[in-house]
Amino acid sequence: MTKLKLYEYPHPILKKKALKVESFDASLRKLLDDMLETMYACNGCGLAAPQVGISQRIVVIDIAHEDEEPAPLYMVNPEIIWRSDEQKICEEGCLSVPGQRAEVERPASVKVKYIDYNGKPQELLADEFLAVAVQHELDHLDGILYIDHISRLKRQMLLKKLDKQRKEQA
Ligand code: NI
Repeated sequence: MTKLKLYEYPHPILKKKALKVESFDASLRKLLDDMLETMYACNGCGLAAPQVGISQRIVVIDIAHEDEEPAPLYMVNPEIIWRSDEQKICEEGCLSVPGQRAEVERPASVKVKYIDYNGKPQELLADEFLAVAVQHELDHLDGILYIDHISRLKRQMLLKKLDKQRKEQA
């Protein structure tokens, strides 16, 4: 497996709407494997293909704790088909916005349909942190980052901190 290069804010690929996957073949499964490997290596719990420079509708998620068995979810062409009226606020971070976190309000539960690793259609009702992860990752496929959901003032402060952190690390 190959660890892929991560694209960070403000790379333009993160703002692009990703394209639907049309062919389910060995190269797609290789990409799913590599994305999962990359996500684990970065201690992330979700990764979308645009974050590794590939503008296609592909997401991997694993919200299992470190002391639990891995429970990877592979989602190709995922689509949210239901959102709860109930909203919930949760702190989010993103591998493309390293070192930063912010509270985001989203529907508490969602139902998502997608194609799995084996090319089979699936439906999943997600709540709790899985609902957050699914919505955060699917947003990436439409060029939306979690910082697009917070107030302009909070976003400016967060981006200032990101900038400062990058300068310190440079
Ligand atoms: Ni993210």
